[in-house]
Amino acid sequence: MAIKRSSDLPGIPHSAAPAASPVPEMSSRSRVPRDATIAPEATPAETTSGAEESIRPRRLSDYIGQKDLKDVLDIAIRAAKGRSEALDHLLLYGPPGLGKTTMSLILAAEMGVNCRITAAPALERPRDITGLLVSLNPGDILFIDEIHRLNRMTEELLYPAMEDRRIDITIGKGQGARTRSIPLAPFTLIGATTRVGALTSPLRDRFGMIQRLRYYDTDELSQIVHRTAALLETPVTDDGALEIARRARGTPRVANRLLKRVRDFTQVKELGTVDRAIAADALELFEIDPLGLDWTDRAVLQTAIQQFGGGPVGLDAIAAATGEDAQTIEDVYEPYLLQIGFLSRTPRGRVVTEAAMRHLGYR
Ligand SMILES: Nc1ncnc2c1ncn2[C@@H]1O[C@H](COP(=O)(O)OP(=O)(O)O)[C@@H](O)[C@H]1O
Ligand SMILES: [Mg+2]
Repeated sequence: MAIKRSSDLPGIPHSAAPAASPVPEMSSRSRVPRDATIAPEATPAETTSGAEESIRPRRLSDYIGQKDLKDVLDIAIRAAKGRSEALDHLLLYGPPGLGKTTMSLILAAEMGVNCRITAAPALERPRDITGLLVSLNPGDILFIDEIHRLNRMTEELLYPAMEDRRIDITIGKGQGARTRSIPLAPFTLIGATTRVGALTSPLRDRFGMIQRLRYYDTDELSQIVHRTAALLETPVTDDGALEIARRARGTPRVANRLLKRVRDFTQVKELGTVDRAIAADALELFEIDPLGLDWTDRAVLQTAIQQFGGGPVGLDAIAAATGEDAQTIEDVYEPYLLQIGFLSRTPRGRVVTEAAMRHLGYR
């Protein structure tokens, strides 16, 4: 089997130093939910324009919130540095937009190594992953997004790579086929996923650290809004930042995106500093309610209430009735509705809670 030259690898090299050029995230997901303003996934425009790169925190000290995660990783960084070793393999999981990719780039910066970014759907053929692995320098980080989507062949190539730092490749075909082992430099694999349950256990077991990212509270999101506003040179009051934070669904990517919409509104209307009223007016315009729910969230809840008596109702039934894709509801909408206690999951299906009914004006 041929090993690819490093110049045509599927991964994108990313220097640990502040990047001069934007590094697009490789995401195979081109489907963005109806209202891209609150969609926690990066839109294709955001990934290719570098809009996200310019506001990404670069060091651990700039990374707001996720204290438990930072504490664990801070120890891991110091220990690995003290022993002059690569970091342990790390699996990061949690809903989109919470800072998984950002954390991987920060770890590379803190360790002083390069981070190569790829995504499972880009690793179709065995030579995609082997090419990437052999090109790594000692200590480098290989970041694989959507790692639950790896195909079986690629996954099996990763097992010895993660465990014994070698890859076993087959040369030739049929009778004359032979297996050869290629040693690899010590490296760190960081896998990111929104669905940790979809990983096979042999893969999961090979990660030394498995860490979950949590939704951010409004205080942390306010800090993120302030930080981004400063980078965008958009003056915002504490109340203004808080209003945006409240509607950001616990998600930094959404907070940043809402801030940009508010900033456009403020600029066009020549309003000056973003305060609470301006932020609220701007976000009303985009039909994002005070809890950050958008049209689809409300449609999901209302369908469950009006057509299914509040549940229990299956996800597929809700999907069919709202015209939204069941997978999108499960990955993008439902996690936040569960988080704020508007939906609960039962063995017989989803149930809308009283809090949700009250929020939507039902008695
Ligand atoms: N802890 C944080 N502090 C400040 N900004 C953050 C933080 N986490 C994420 N962000 C912002 O949110 C955006 C999305 O984060 P990202 O790491 O791409 O999410 P994920 O990979 O989990 O989908 C980034 O561009 C970054 O600016
Ligand atoms: Mg990401």
